[in-house]
Parts: sequence; structure tokens; C-alpha cells
Amino acid sequence: MKKLLTACLIAALPLTSVAAAPADPLAPTARWSAYTAGRAATPPMGWSTWNAFATDIDEDKIIGSAQQIIDLGLAAKGYRYINIDDGWVLKRRMPDGQMILRADKFPSARAGGDTPTFKPFTDRLHAMGLKAGIYSDLGRNTCSEAWSETDTDLPKGNVLEREAGLYGHIDQDIALYFAEWGFDFIKVDGCGLRDYGPQNPHVLSGKFRATGPYLDSGAVTRTDIPAIQEMFRHINLALARNNPDGDYILSLCIWGAANVRTWGKDYGAISRTSDDISPAWGRLLVNYDSSVTRSLYAHPGSWNDPDMLHIGAGDFDANHLTEARSHFALWAMLNAPLMIGTDLRKAPKALLDIFGNADIIALDQDPAGNQATLAHDSSDVQILVKTLASGDKAVAIFNRSSGGYDVDLSASHLKFSDTAPIELTDLWTKERTSFTRRTRLHVAPRETLIFRAHGTRSLPSGYYLSEQPGSVNPAVDGTVRPQVDPTIFRTAAGWAGTGGAGDRPTYAGWGGARADSAPYGQTLHIAGKPFAAGIGALANSRLEVRNKQATRFTTMVGVDDTATDKTRPVTFAVYGDGKLLVTSAPLKWGMPALPLSAPVAGVKLIELVARSTGADNERLPVTWGEAALLER
Ligand code: GLA
Repeated sequence: MKKLLTACLIAALPLTSVAAAPADPLAPTARWSAYTAGRAATPPMGWSTWNAFATDIDEDKIIGSAQQIIDLGLAAKGYRYINIDDGWVLKRRMPDGQMILRADKFPSARAGGDTPTFKPFTDRLHAMGLKAGIYSDLGRNTCSEAWSETDTDLPKGNVLEREAGLYGHIDQDIALYFAEWGFDFIKVDGCGLRDYGPQNPHVLSGKFRATGPYLDSGAVTRTDIPAIQEMFRHINLALARNNPDGDYILSLCIWGAANVRTWGKDYGAISRTSDDISPAWGRLLVNYDSSVTRSLYAHPGSWNDPDMLHIGAGDFDANHLTEARSHFALWAMLNAPLMIGTDLRKAPKALLDIFGNADIIALDQDPAGNQATLAHDSSDVQILVKTLASGDKAVAIFNRSSGGYDVDLSASHLKFSDTAPIELTDLWTKERTSFTRRTRLHVAPRETLIFRAHGTRSLPSGYYLSEQPGSVNPAVDGTVRPQVDPTIFRTAAGWAGTGGAGDRPTYAGWGGARADSAPYGQTLHIAGKPFAAGIGALANSRLEVRNKQATRFTTMVGVDDTATDKTRPVTFAVYGDGKLLVTSAPLKWGMPALPLSAPVAGVKLIELVARSTGADNERLPVTWGEAALLER
């Protein structure tokens, strides 16, 4: 039955840009394939009801916070999306399936008479110069219907009337939310496919219908990934149809499950990489870790989403400004959506100053769209560096631990020359300092130092690809059997509490392509030669690289020393707008790095293909050492 349903769904879909995989996924396409539909050239910014109010929402709270966004000058700084999360549905009217919103909570909706309408609400936000966001689910029911302890704010009625999710109603609901009600943003949650399995007690009791394909966030191997992707593809078609002006955002919310950390970039403008954040330091680490190694999976148009800001509560409230500032600085370095999740009518000035830090917002919103990469990686201290459109760098030194650290920041972390002065501007204090080669900085427990850095590039004639992850898309990253990522922090403050077995590694994506790192986290090496700059990927991968003005591409290629398959050869090929520019001889483990160079003047899309035989790619990491686009 499940198979039949998926097949029908696929058959009903016309062809789209989110197309089925080609016969040879390594064949050049001359096309950037990551998602660019909608309006997310930079990560969306705004405010959402969920962290502040859960399902206890109403028009006053939302319009009140929206007004604050304007009055406090935050709208002028980029916060524009005002998003309703779970809790707005009264019922799905039968038999026509029309969604009915809770007019008791949204009085302006009564203008619609028997069929309440959100149009006056979105009109009001639009008149304020803001955008409006709504929430739904892939399945028949939402998260709060599965998890809420009280039923006050939950959909009412019989089984069918309580089905608030998109399942079976994608075209109808998307048309209503966008063409009729005028929303600009939709978050599509996944609980409807996760929490309503045939063994769920509520399903057994007849309260809800069992709904698959099941999305199992505990084990990627138990999830029907193509079926989930088809649903997002269908949603995308409906969004495009109902938004002729392209002014919309699709937010994927399946919490890093179903290997979405690998493919979310092809299906939505933002995609959650982990479970929900909570106002606990350990949870911040989980969510941050789920995005921080994925800089190549974020680009203008498609961003990693480590969840909304939880500044204003618990470990991030006004009594914990160090943690609150770290949260904000890290999210900006990750190019995360900046979604405020506190009641702005009550937020103290110290927190408003964090949200309003224009210099840090500018890092998140930098037009080059480069998510930071790790220049130093340890369990307690990390140095993140991101290249800005101006050529300056942003650098954050993050102390994850509960002890202070003296940290050496060096020019090489920044890929700056170590003989020329480097000027640092502290983005909290605005203080300027300068150093040459190396400087020592003290980082307090849980503190994140964050600077803008101006220096002389160590590669003066261009950029390493690893400095420009926003322009590099691992269209095929070589992972064939999704494996869980063991590097993500596992907190005792997990959603299951300490009573159970604890948070286990669950988020797939292990072995994905990485900037300045081999796929499994080691430094890049070919036959003993280290590469501080480069791209690590698995064999049988294809990387798309956007080129603006470079005239030459250079690199040193080979099988990475971390490969445990020492026999299979890999051939490296570079394509320009679909045409072969240069190719290597077959290279095996232990053979020295081979230089490749290709003219790319006028080429818009470069493709880097590492091809081998067989499909056991996980044992065969490859290195594009010092891969660089040179302008002269
Ligand atoms: C899930 C999502 C949250 C929020 C709630 C609403 O848990 O991950 O962000 O939308 O559902 O119920």
C-alpha cells in the first residue's frame, strides 16, 4: 500500500528542476543543481512564535512582537519574517477539506465569516513592511498533536477534522496559504510521518490514522528517503505554481533525519540539521555541531538550519550573556536563519543589543554566502573562519568548555600572509587591534570571540575553493549508504531526558564532502603530503563550482591517505560548462599528488569529478588539494 501510494504520487508529478537523478550521476550537467527557488539569497531573518509561546499563540502576541521588530529598529536590520508555528489550526472542514484557523485567537480572521481567513493578518504584516510565515506538516497531523500534554490549543473534531497536515492536501493547502491568504514562508514539519506509526497508542486507539512513509529519526536505515523527497518535490511544485513572483520560502523541518543533512540543500531554502534546540548549553552544542561541518552544503538559496534562536530563555537569558552572545555569534558564522524566539514585548535591552548587533548580522547576511569552516577543531575549542564578499574574513573563537583557554590565532588560520599585519575588529566591543603571524587571546568558558579580520591574502591571485563553500556544491558527494555522524555532541539534556539510554548517534551525513578536511575529519594528505587547503570528498563524487571571474583552476589531486581501499584507482576530471578541460591518469592510494590546471576564463560552472569503479566509496576518500580559482 505504501509503495503504491508513493508510485501514484510520483506519477502525478510533472517534471521539475528538482529532477530525478540522471543515469550517470557523475556526468557533467553544466548546471548548478542546489536549490535556488524562493527568496533566500541570504539566510532568512525574523521572529517565530514557537520558542516563546509554543501553541499558546494569538494575534496580539504576534502583532505585538512584529510591532516591536519595527519599533526597536530590528526590521531595518533585516528581521522581516514573522512566522506562526504550530497551534493555529482549529480543524480541517469536511467534506471540502478547507483548513479552518482558530478565529478565537485571530480576531481579524472573522472577516471571512464561516470560513475564517488569515488575509487581514498577512495584509497587516505586509503593510508593516514585513513577511508572514505559516506552519504545516508532511503527514496528516502536526507535532503538537503528538506531543502536547493538554489539548487546549490542538485541532478539534473527528479523526479527519483533526488532520491539519499537508498529507493528501498539498495542492489545496499550499494554494490556500499562499495564493489566498498571502503567506510568504512555510515551515513543513515531519512529526506527521514520525509519530503516527501503526503501533502508536493513539493510532491504536483510533484517535489518529497511521501515516507513512515512516520517518524514523532514530535510525536512517529505517526511513524511506526517496518517498520523503518526493513529498518535498510535490510541495515545491505547488509553491512555484501559487507564487508566480517567486516570493516564498520553504523551510524543511525533519531535524537531520532521513539523511536530510545531505540532500536538504536540493529541496528547500532552509533545512533543519538536528532536533529542536532548547535553552540548554548541551542542546546548543548538538545543534551547532550538526551544521558546523556542513559548510559545503549551504549556499545562497539553500541554508543549513540549526534551529531558531533561543536567546532570552534558560542558559541564554539576560543572566547568561556570555552564552547568549555565543549563540548569536555562532549562528551568524553558520549562515543560519536568524529567527528570534523570545517575546520581544518583554525582552531586556541587553538581549536586544545582541539581536541588533549589525556587524554580526552582516556576517550572516554577507552576499558571498560562505558558511564558516573549521580552521581549528578540537573538542573544547574551535576556530571558525568565513570569507566575506569583500575579501575580509570573519573569525570566531569558540570555547565550548567550562574552563578558560589561551588560544593562539595565527595568520594561517585565516589564510592570510604571516608577514603582513592583520587588523582585528572585535564585533562586540568594536575595539581594533593588530598582529603579525600570531596572537594569543583569552577565551572565557562558553565565550565566543568574534572579529572581522583584514589582512593580506596568502594566495594573492585568487581563492581556495575551501574559502568559498557557498560557491561549491557537492551535487554527488559519494556517500551511498547513509551513516551516522559520530562527531555531533550528544547531550544529557536530550529530549528523552536522563531516564532512557541517552542520545545516540542518529544524524546521518558521515563521510560527506568537507572544506579543509578529509571526509572523516582528518587533515588532507596525499602520499604523506599535507594540504592545509582543499576539498575532501569520497570517490565517485561530483562537485559543482560557480565561477565569476577566475581565469584558471589549479589543484593537486590524489587518493587521500585516509583511504582504506589501497587498490582501486580514481580518475580526476575537470569540466567547464559541461566540456572536459583536463583529466588525470588513474591514481591509487600512495601515489603522489598530481597537479592539474585548466583554463576557465568565461566558464560559469566548473565540475570536479572523481570517478572510480565499484560503489564502495566510503573506503576511498579523495583530495582536491589546494584547489583554487585564480584571477591572474
Ligand atoms: C517540531 C519542530 C519545532 C516546532 C514544533 C511544533 O518539534 O521541530 O521547531 O515547530 O514541532 O510542534
